[in-house]
Amino acid sequence: MARKGPGFQAARRLLAWYDANARVLPWRAANGVKPDPYRVWLSEIMLQQTTVPAVRSYFEKFTALWPSVEALAAAPLDDVLRAWAGLGYYARARNLHACARQVMLRHGGRFPQTADDLRALPGVGPYTAAAIAAIAFGQRHAAVDGNVERVISRLHAIETPLPAAKPLIREFAQALVPKARAGDFAQAMMDLGATICTPRAPACGQCPFNKVCEGRRKGLASSLPRKLDKKKRPVRHGTAFWIQRDDGAVLLRRRPEKGLLGGMMEIPSTAWGPRSADPEGQAPLQAAWRAISGEVTHTFTHFDLVLVVWLATRITTGELLDDGDYRWVAPASLSEEALPTVMRKVVAHVLGPVARSQTAQQ
Ligand code: ADE
Repeated sequence: MARKGPGFQAARRLLAWYDANARVLPWRAANGVKPDPYRVWLSEIMLQQTTVPAVRSYFEKFTALWPSVEALAAAPLDDVLRAWAGLGYYARARNLHACARQVMLRHGGRFPQTADDLRALPGVGPYTAAAIAAIAFGQRHAAVDGNVERVISRLHAIETPLPAAKPLIREFAQALVPKARAGDFAQAMMDLGATICTPRAPACGQCPFNKVCEGRRKGLASSLPRKLDKKKRPVRHGTAFWIQRDDGAVLLRRRPEKGLLGGMMEIPSTAWGPRSADPEGQAPLQAAWRAISGEVTHTFTHFDLVLVVWLATRITTGELLDDGDYRWVAPASLSEEALPTVMRKVVAHVLGPVARSQTAQQ
């Protein structure tokens, strides 16, 4: 029989810790119950670049609306985008829908089981493929996200900064994965990173790895992983046009299908870039504009956006450029539109004193 090395002992300790301390999350199968690949996949897509607390209610909403991959594939894309609004990165919602369709059309409604085949689906990158293969199908893959990078870099006292350390971290993580319970192991690593091996003040006293953690032994734990200084995000500017008719309806526009927030509705705005000398020239119609005081700010992955909002309630001249992408919407119905978070902030900036004070803090 193969020798059971220190990795085996570490995995055993982690699984025992998980059995006693696993977070109760709506997408997790109960002990002894076979995980539903649809729910595993859906949760992993939602959790990409988003936190567990932010995802919970969306996961519950989606599984209530669409309890199976078949139901999701049959839903109109607009309904899916609308339900996704607020989770950010709308390309993920489009890919989610495309993936559900592909699973129905190419795989007969069953998710493929290997990481390579999962990786070929829309919206499924290497991390997500590994997580689904391990959690849904028990395959021996390490799912290495930022939390797991932190755990491994501490466990092995890896002082090479990220991102250069990634391949080594992945190798160490993979070596730890046990033959049995690979899915629980993946989730245990995630939970350990989220609750014990936290970025600033790790609770080493409660950690199942504390006797074998090199980072702790060397007094380095809270300073790992090392990271190269991040470049500052550039700032882009824009002007959003809040255009309201006498009956209260507000003008929305659908963004182009390709590109950032593709296909989502928006308060029409100028291009986002350096401060524009001529926002008026980019407005969808001519009007007597009034600037609202304050700004709306939003952080995207690659830039920070600062929007000022111009208001027009008396439309003076000009027909609306009616190319089918514009729609008038009553204010009470705005919450039902597929508005991305940045546009919800614009709505709050114009309509809500409470919401306005919140945006002012960001
Ligand atoms: N982060 C990414 N996937 C996760 C999962 N399945 N459970 C908890 N946190 C996660």
